[in-house]
Amino acid sequence: MLELKARKVQKVVEIESGLSLLALAIKNDVDWGFSCKRGSCARCRCFVASGMEFLEEPTEAEDIRLEPEELERGYRLACQATVKQTGPITVIHKPYF
Ligand code: FES
Repeated sequence: MLELKARKVQKVVEIESGLSLLALAIKNDVDWGFSCKRGSCARCRCFVASGMEFLEEPTEAEDIRLEPEELERGYRLACQATVKQTGPITVIHKPYF
């Protein structure tokens, strides 16, 4: 179960492993802001409130774009963070502005 919380839409969607959080949001009509899809604009930035263990490790782009403390606290880039396996995951869209 994946719960996606964006500005207008909050939805529980079906997990497809191998897809990014952003791809799942777009597929399920969740209003997730994004621009580059390459891990550089950070408009898709999000906070993983639970279920980080079901996501793949941060990509190189996330390591470059996000501060180490952000990664430690549970922030990810939705266009980069892919789901590794099914499990309860809650993600909140948290762009910088
Ligand atoms: S869409 Fe630009 S960093 Fe994710």
